[in-house]
Amino acid sequence: MASTKLFGLFAFFLLLLSAAVAEDDHRFPLGEEKRTHLRFYLHDILGGPEPTTLVVATAKTTSKSPTLFGTVVMADDPLTEGPEPTSKLVGRAQGLYASASKREVALLMAMNFAFVGGEYNGSSLAILGRNGVFSGVGEMPVVGGSGRFRLAQGYALARTHRSDATSGDATVEYNVYVVHH
Ligand SMILES: *[C@@H]1O[C@H](CO)[C@@H](O)[C@H](O)[C@H]1NC(C)=O
Repeated sequence: MASTKLFGLFAFFLLLLSAAVAEDDHRFPLGEEKRTHLRFYLHDILGGPEPTTLVVATAKTTSKSPTLFGTVVMADDPLTEGPEPTSKLVGRAQGLYASASKREVALLMAMNFAFVGGEYNGSSLAILGRNGVFSGVGEMPVVGGSGRFRLAQGYALARTHRSDATSGDATVEYNVYVVHH
């Protein structure tokens, strides 16, 4: 008898809970699903008078790693419409990349693309994944976004457009494909 009552009470609370959840549903703003392809160029500047990157950690090893394994870099790289650094600024790539492979140059990327231009001004995309720098085209997952890119999911293809062997500076073409709301 007592267990029946207890079950009844439990069911009642479950009902209350589901009612509360259901009531919340229509207050959740969710636009139409959209598909967007963005193309821009990232400028990663390691040296010179105005570097856009900063080495924030290096591995404490006795033998030097050929892949700089363990090195963590913080970046605030400009994103431009065209490949020239003087081209129109569309956003900034702000975040971390780290050498995550002992055998080849492969990066762990944890970046936010913060857009400043036009209709995407104030919106951002979050990138989290592996970037095999010398594998031709690197592919990284887009794991989320904000503003115009709410609930974003997709992928980013990175291709080195130009790189300077001496300074290490690089211009990388990004093609980003996202589904968002
Ligand atoms: C982007 O948004 C900021 C803040 O709302 C504003 O100050 C700025 O003028 C905008 N830039 C462009 C290019 O629309």
